[in-house]
Amino acid sequence: MEAPQRTQVAIIGGGVAGLMLSQLLHVEGIDCVILERQTRVYTEGRIRAGVLEYGTVNLLRRVGVSERMDRLGLRHEGFALMDDGEKTRIPLHDLVNTDVMVYGQTEITIDLMDACAERGIPLIFEAKEVALHDFDSAAPYVTYIKDGVPQRLDCDVIAGCDGAHGVCRATMPDAAAHAVEKVYPFGWLGILSDVPPMDHELIYSNHERGFALASQRSLTRSRYYIQCDVTEKIEDWSDERIWDELEIRLGDTTEHRITRGPSLEKSIAPLRSYVCEKMQHGRLFLAGDASHIVPPTGAKGLNLAASDVYYLADALIAHYKQGNEAGLKGYTDRALNRIWKAERFSWSMTQLTHRFPNMTLFDRKMQKADLSYIRGSVAAQTAIAENYVGLPY
Ligand code: APR
Ligand code: PHB
Repeated sequence: MEAPQRTQVAIIGGGVAGLMLSQLLHVEGIDCVILERQTRVYTEGRIRAGVLEYGTVNLLRRVGVSERMDRLGLRHEGFALMDDGEKTRIPLHDLVNTDVMVYGQTEITIDLMDACAERGIPLIFEAKEVALHDFDSAAPYVTYIKDGVPQRLDCDVIAGCDGAHGVCRATMPDAAAHAVEKVYPFGWLGILSDVPPMDHELIYSNHERGFALASQRSLTRSRYYIQCDVTEKIEDWSDERIWDELEIRLGDTTEHRITRGPSLEKSIAPLRSYVCEKMQHGRLFLAGDASHIVPPTGAKGLNLAASDVYYLADALIAHYKQGNEAGLKGYTDRALNRIWKAERFSWSMTQLTHRFPNMTLFDRKMQKADLSYIRGSVAAQTAIAENYVGLPY
């Protein structure tokens, strides 16, 4: 065992939640160390979400990590809901005077990792066998293995930002008893390709063959999804088969043409809603995917990770600067309040846009009525817009 290191906040996980938290603490002069299980190359290679709420954009600006995003990100003033080919645009900007930013999570991760390197925030990759100790005491510590050598990190607080399959929630006493979950009977097959997007805005399409989404990462990189069975094998989906299906579900007209290209990445992910309502125990706090999962339909996963760490940083700053413990004590309640609203929105968008197995005619009529109401009601569109751009922190 090497001599113990010491920091104020030990952050487990170098995804968006952990990296963003490190920056929020660093700008306030609070020390932290990030322990990440994977290599930098692996972490950067993961293809994930791509729509940022204005709150997430503002956080990145606040910590001074927005230069590339402000230069390369695309401001979207609206998006479309399509049902059986009939399109309804939700004009976000006109309705709530706010846009969203299309900028890949992969890019944010790179920007935040670069900022850690520039600012001297220790980000330890390939930290293996991370284990949490004594977090119900005033002197917690974390052990891990680096390059085969056992290490110990003493700290005041442990931030569990290690995603859905991490060690922190698994170690949190009694967490399973506080879990609320809904599993959807389908998944999303995603394809990433260096071709121009079919439209300048996102299109969420409810089609009789299932849901499809036309998204993008830039003016030259497209991201598309189709609803599929979770038992499907990605090997059975050639690029051509995916493009054929997208053309059917999104409509390939002269107005909107899908440009085909080789896939840079394709994969199938299940959809679920999950909340662990126990987000803290003693000096251990969970944030991001470590404590909740949303179906991707509302683009809320990354943005919820950002709002969680904003609340956690706020509480830690009050703890260190004013000796005020109220924020830490109230962290779970404050975070859950926003989490459940994002869960509701993601669930309702999923409900509205997907074809469920065993759907009855009545169920389908409800979707149609919902869409028709949205099409004709500024109030309904405003409610969607308000949620899509992100509820205030
Ligand atoms: N020890 C150290 N690091 C770990 C461990 C562990 N035992 N287990 C997992 N990790 C790391 C993962 O390798 C990953 O880099 O924790 C990180 C968690 O990052 P994310 O999964 O990206 O989760 P989060 O930061 O909460 O971001 C949430 O990411 O998955 C998307 O849809 C989700 O957009 C949302 C966002
Ligand atoms: C994406 O581009 O990956 C994306 C966009 C919007 C969503 C979900 C995913 O709702």
